[in-house]
Amino acid sequence: MDAEKLNVALADRLAANGELNDPAWRAALLAVPRHRFVPDVAWARPDDGPAYRIDRTGDPGGWLAAAYADHAIITQFDDGATAVGAGSGRYTSSLSAPGVVLDFLELLAPEPGHRVLEIGTGPGWTAGLLAHRLGDAGVTSVEIDPQVLATAAANLRALGRRPGLVLGDGAGGRAGGAPYDGVHVTCGVHTVPHAWVRQTRPGGVIVLPWMPRYAPGHQLRLTAGPAGTASGHFAGSATYMPLRGQRSAPAPRFTGDFRRRTAEIPPETIFRAAYGADVAIAGTLPDVHASVAADNGFEVWLWAGDSLAYGAGSHIAETGPRNLWNEVERAFGRWLEWGRPERSRFGMTVSPVGQHVWLDSPGNPLAKGHGPSG
Ligand SMILES: C[S@@+](CC[C@H](N)C(=O)[O-])C[C@H]1O[C@@H](n2cnc3c(N)ncnc32)[C@H](O)[C@@H]1O
Repeated sequence: MDAEKLNVALADRLAANGELNDPAWRAALLAVPRHRFVPDVAWARPDDGPAYRIDRTGDPGGWLAAAYADHAIITQFDDGATAVGAGSGRYTSSLSAPGVVLDFLELLAPEPGHRVLEIGTGPGWTAGLLAHRLGDAGVTSVEIDPQVLATAAANLRALGRRPGLVLGDGAGGRAGGAPYDGVHVTCGVHTVPHAWVRQTRPGGVIVLPWMPRYAPGHQLRLTAGPAGTASGHFAGSATYMPLRGQRSAPAPRFTGDFRRRTAEIPPETIFRAAYGADVAIAGTLPDVHASVAADNGFEVWLWAGDSLAYGAGSHIAETGPRNLWNEVERAFGRWLEWGRPERSRFGMTVSPVGQHVWLDSPGNPLAKGHGPSG
């Protein structure tokens, strides 16, 4: 099948899944062919399976099919230190999967004449979609990696597009072009840089993957308000590679005495609960990291500062000044008491002094001592 037919089929699938509703975004998807941003050798990463190598020379049909599947395409490992062909290492640049891209673009919902700042250009596909919708002058995209940015510029130029491309750390936004009507963030953040709020006009929208230290990731849509604040609700799921500067270190190695006990609530129950529970726990305990392995029974590691908790089945071992599993159990217990609110009832406010997660309204923060009523 040729690229055009595959692109139409992709648009139809995304529409059937509810991820592509706006005809203007459908027109952009069809006008900015995704395969033009895919390098000859890369790794396709389905949501529900291992990454597989794609090679335009060796298997042109498989390469093209992957470009129009709802898969992320990994285009860089270890900030370029590991060759793409090797397929090992930390993922550091990609074309994001079409479903979540269209979800985010529809959440952003820019209008003709709007100016949008994008954080994380990657191969340039999403900058191209935005530029199709808003014109080149309406889009500024910031990328931290010079080689990635050079490739994006070439990919976009080959399609006749020249949005503003800036080499720099997107955590600082791009003050020169502010205020923007929207900010489109394509790397994960646990802490929302305030620069993005300052650089958005009141009423403007910021969409981003919130990737708290306690897994997993969630789409967030903030609307800028007065006095340097922005607030809004969580939407669907989103797992992105993190903003450089907000990457997590691996779990530290702890030695010494562990306190052992039986969990009141087994880890698997909490980690397999609804997304609302994940947001409630991450919003209550923003400094707690979590890592889960399900290959050999269910195991969980939690860590924050000098404290670690390990759980397997119902067995818990904790060390350090905090009883982290107990803290997670209490946060989960509060979510049960609130009547198991779903993810979309939670939101976040970002202000010059920090950020907080809330239930139903910004006046109901989850942080300790300020629990939501009801
Ligand atoms: C998932 S990719 C971007 C996806 C892309 N927009 C697309 O077309 O699908 C994330 C990109 O963010 C970039 N990045 C990471 N940290 C950054 C930072 N602090 N400032 C700007 N770009 C950053 C990475 O180099 C990577 O290219």
